[in-house]
Amino acid sequence: MNITPEFIDELKLRNRIEDVVSSYVNLKHTGSSYVGLCPFHSERTPSFHVSPSRSMFHCFGCGAGGDVITFVMRAENLDYISALEVLCHRVGMEMPGDDGRKSELLRRSRIFEMNREAARFFNACLNDPSATAAQAYLKKRGLTPAAVKHFGLGYSPDSFDALRNHLRSLGYRDEELGEAFLCGKSRRTGGYFDYFRSRLMFPIIDNIGNVIAFGGRALDDSTPKYLNTSDTPAFKKSRNLFALNFAKNTDFDYFILCEGYMDVIAMHMAGFSNAVATLGTALTSEQARVIAKYKKKVVLCYDSDEAGQNATRRALPILAEAGLETRVLRVIDAKDPDEYIKKFGAEKFKLLVEGSKSRLEFLIDSATTKYNIVVPEEKIKAANELCAEAAGVYSDVEREIYIDRIAERLGVERQNVKSDVDRRRRAARKKEDGERITNVISKTVGYGDRINRERAQNIKASRAEESIIGMMILYPELREAVVSGRVQIGPDDFLTEFNRRAFESVLKRGSDIGLIAQDFTVEEIARIEDAVERRAELSDNGEAVLIDNVNALKGEKKAADDDLGAALEILKKKTKK
Ligand code: UTP
Ligand code: MN
Repeated sequence: MNITPEFIDELKLRNRIEDVVSSYVNLKHTGSSYVGLCPFHSERTPSFHVSPSRSMFHCFGCGAGGDVITFVMRAENLDYISALEVLCHRVGMEMPGDDGRKSELLRRSRIFEMNREAARFFNACLNDPSATAAQAYLKKRGLTPAAVKHFGLGYSPDSFDALRNHLRSLGYRDEELGEAFLCGKSRRTGGYFDYFRSRLMFPIIDNIGNVIAFGGRALDDSTPKYLNTSDTPAFKKSRNLFALNFAKNTDFDYFILCEGYMDVIAMHMAGFSNAVATLGTALTSEQARVIAKYKKKVVLCYDSDEAGQNATRRALPILAEAGLETRVLRVIDAKDPDEYIKKFGAEKFKLLVEGSKSRLEFLIDSATTKYNIVVPEEKIKAANELCAEAAGVYSDVEREIYIDRIAERLGVERQNVKSDVDRRRRAARKKEDGERITNVISKTVGYGDRINRERAQNIKASRAEESIIGMMILYPELREAVVSGRVQIGPDDFLTEFNRRAFESVLKRGSDIGLIAQDFTVEEIARIEDAVERRAELSDNGEAVLIDNVNALKGEKKAADDDLGAALEILKKKTKK
């Protein structure tokens, strides 16, 4: 595919970065740019900037940065060509002539189609006379025909090739079935076989209605209880939630987050169509951010056993981090919400939801159960735990309430709790400042730099290299000066491999991040964008400055070569002896 600078120009002209970003981030206009909460990391104060004049974005918090194309790559987890396709589609432009390479986007839509066919197939299999065990299981678990229909449940037959044969008859190839995780490949024979067999099938559907994965439950005690689709080009478990497709459209101003597919289905049938579940893994910060995109509040409703309560404790900071107000619901006299609703009914469950506890109430409860606060040592431990929690609370009002409650529940002086919390806050702030400074230092010095590993050993040279690259991107006429040979600098003058690659790409592709992006990962692009960003902040960026940097780099290169020469001399002498 021939991606020309003209094409990229046109594409970026029509897809204004502020418009595209706006559909992901709530942007506020400030001066010449826009700011908002970064979609690529969790934060409470906006450090994500979009500059319409330079068509770039940059996050001062996590360092993400680039143009509208790399933004889409990051936000949608797409490769370069697919991001171009998305943007073309958005404004009705044609993609440049295809050279037959199948883009990731196409591969993805094949997987969605395949999954949809598989879901249809599994659903039809439920009505097959051979599916008596599955039908009996549905009955046993109280899964009504309405629930089966609503969630598109199905049954994977007790066969190694039923689904495979069906999908092959529709034109899908074995490799595609393997890629979609619908079939496994035998290591011994190399043959493909159905991955889900004799299981009750739960299709997982994304927020725009694609069937992205499956969970399959065994009908008996065989293990594993659930088999789930692994990550595929069309699915990442850490980013998706079961039943999000339904829950996002409800009038509730909160989600109920639970552990299991069965819990979600029971809740939906009881009228709580705002229930969602993670997909067989602990809650991730990505999932918390997905939730925060739709609702500001969450009721956590995990299993009542110790594992469930521990998972609750781990989920709380992740949800808070995403800015979600969280309450905790614990079912009593039942192991999970599914069992609770079956035993006591929807009305009783509703009361539990209404009576769910605030995050701190939950923590106070669990600390006072965990420790016997009549014993002074134990009371101290409980106080330590709770004060640490309170110190982490962002809102002043909320924190004051917490302090009241802790003092009350532990039976200690409010003033003592308050000074303990304040002390912790001061310590935390000091630590944060320290970390920020270390961060700045290591960023300048380049230790632990995974993008440009040679940076730490070549600080001066890489600064000059980055200036050169930044200026050539920022000012096409300076790139021209290098291309025409008026300013003499070539790839061989570069000391660090990463910057040499960046330089070569700018020479070959042109002065546009959107063109260079085809040669790099989004993290690498962020680094190049950072060099541009830092150059843009300086007022002096003419050809003379470029030449200064070129000379500085050549000087560094010569010094390095001299060092190498001297070292080789010494080595030679030594070996001669
Ligand atoms: P549970 O064991 O609580 O299952 O696991 P459940 O959904 O309540 O199902 P029933 O009521 O026992 O039939 C909670 C979730 O953890 C994941 C699944 O997503 C499940 O819904 N899980 C569990 C797995 O992925 N694999 C397993 O083997 C078990
Ligand atoms: Mn369960």
